[in-house]
Amino acid sequence: MDIILIAAVTQDGFIARHPHETIRWSKDLSLFKEQTTGWPVIMGSNTFNCINSELKDRKIIVMHREDNPQKILDNIDKEKCFIAGGGKTNMRFASYLTHLYITPHPNVFGSGVCLFSGPVKEMNLVFEAVIPVDKINGIFQFQYRVN
Ligand SMILES: NC(=O)c1ccc[n+]([C@@H]2O[C@H](COP(=O)([O-])OP(=O)(O)OC[C@H]3O[C@@H](n4cnc5c(N)ncnc54)[C@H](OP(=O)(O)O)[C@@H]3O)[C@@H](O)[C@H]2O)c1
Repeated sequence: MDIILIAAVTQDGFIARHPHETIRWSKDLSLFKEQTTGWPVIMGSNTFNCINSELKDRKIIVMHREDNPQKILDNIDKEKCFIAGGGKTNMRFASYLTHLYITPHPNVFGSGVCLFSGPVKEMNLVFEAVIPVDKINGIFQFQYRVN
């Protein structure tokens, strides 16, 4: 199964200003919706509580501290699933990732929630594709396979 981390990041590697921020600066929500529709989407409880738009037509799996990432993945019988943050959840699934879909944005926060909220093993990424999000503002989603 493909296990795809999907995230909008600032130029300094943050995904939010703080753990309870509802993301309004991201320009790739419609791409997120398109790409994740029909597939299981795993997210942490902080992220789930921050979402203010309904995510229809996909199974949302909310991760809590007592949940085991391996068991969650073992219970998914699909070709792919998405890991949709936040930083704590991305970190817990880091060793299982097969792909990263990252959309760098023209923002610098200086501090906040990192893409991975803690140390993860080094990953070698192989570029696969780039998807335009907002060409005028230089926003593109970069898709990588974890080697
Ligand atoms: N830019 C993007 O693409 C993007 C994407 C997703 C999310 N975000 C942002 O990321 C932020 C949330 O990230 P986050 O890392 O704070 O949260 P998160 O990963 O969404 O959820 C927190 C996770 O950590 C667990 N946890 C909390 N305290 C813990 C502790 N002391 N020990 C062990 N586990 C603990 C929670 O379990 P319990 O439920 O048991 O507490 C939950 O599983 C939000 O602002 C959200 O909007 C941005």
